[in-house]
Amino acid sequence: MPNAKIAGIGYYVPENKVTNNDLARVMDTSDEWIQERTGIVERRYAKKHEESTTTMGVEAAKIAIERAGITNEDIDFIIFATLSPDYYFPGCGVLLQREMGMLGVGALDIRNQCSGFVYGLSIADQFVKSGMYKNVLLVGSEFHSMGLDFSTRGRNVTVIFGDGAGAVVVQPTEEEGKGILSTHLHADGTYAEKLAYINPGSHAGKWEDKERFGYPDVEFGGAFLTQKMWDDEDLFPNMEGQAVFKMAVQKFPEVIMEALQTNGLQPEDIDMLVPHQANLRISQFVQRRMKLRDDQVWNNIQKFGNTTAASIPIALCEAWEQGAVKDGDLVCLAAFGSGFTWGSALIRW
Ligand code: ACO
Repeated sequence: MPNAKIAGIGYYVPENKVTNNDLARVMDTSDEWIQERTGIVERRYAKKHEESTTTMGVEAAKIAIERAGITNEDIDFIIFATLSPDYYFPGCGVLLQREMGMLGVGALDIRNQCSGFVYGLSIADQFVKSGMYKNVLLVGSEFHSMGLDFSTRGRNVTVIFGDGAGAVVVQPTEEEGKGILSTHLHADGTYAEKLAYINPGSHAGKWEDKERFGYPDVEFGGAFLTQKMWDDEDLFPNMEGQAVFKMAVQKFPEVIMEALQTNGLQPEDIDMLVPHQANLRISQFVQRRMKLRDDQVWNNIQKFGNTTAASIPIALCEAWEQGAVKDGDLVCLAAFGSGFTWGSALIRW
């Protein structure tokens, strides 16, 4: 059975840079607070009515396909990870497919937030290893800026997120010991509401926070979006930052070690760790815990903010473009996010 490898990679970020000071003009926050707590200096925002989660994904996919040395017609399966889709349904997979003229091949949408890319890579890996597909296009893309609360109430979440997309083409490789060595996926739904975008949804408000989030209050129809949600302006993401921090700094090292141990390797064997760009403080904590040097960890959240499903392919692509990921390197991808979900992938590049 051949291994699967990343044969092409690309990313796209919108031109529009939004600094912390730009945000401080619309909400009560400051450059100092944001940099100290998250490391973020600026992020990109897509152009409303001109760009979308899908169009950004298409731009990243074009680069990945070209670098894989194939054409759109060669793609035999599409996986699209996002939490900020163009439509409630259908998913962005079919929209990208239509845009890129890959009609007829399967298209799967992934709803695993910050872990979406690692989950998608694991699926692509299984499909390619089993021989079912030969050129899987995996895209992670987010248009966060269209769904954030830009009032002071939403500041703890809003300052963290940015827009962008990354994509890879996954193909079989005959090279011994190369490609995706293993993937590891986990979830714990106990924490589902700790980092969530709840409304509009079909939930019955059965958890402890139902008063806070409201719930469908009509008997027939219209249950997804209620007057109460509009009245409470309860249509934005929410996060319990400290709960997220606590679990993230535990699960990142755990799932990285799981990948290493599965392959009989040690932290010092890692040439490049590309963590989901959740928060620079989280990445630094993980780096210290794993006793990794600065040159073993790629961080670019300072420039792009947290782009959720897009953050790993954007960071991996940037590292590769700058020569920090080279042929034969051991690359570890690790993610943690809403769900909570977490996962890792170990790749011999
Ligand atoms: N600007 C200024 N003040 C703010 C901001 C802001 N953007 N956001 C919150 N505050 C205020 C709060 O209102 C609070 O004020 P108060 O003491 O008067 O009530 C104060 O700062 C402290 O708020 P906390 O939420 O307790 O802030 P904390 O020190 O925990 O930092 C943070 C918040 C940065 C989110 C932190 O909890 C954290 O790093 N959590 C990890 C979560 C994370 O990074 N998630 C990334 C996205 S999820 C993912 O990708 C996995």
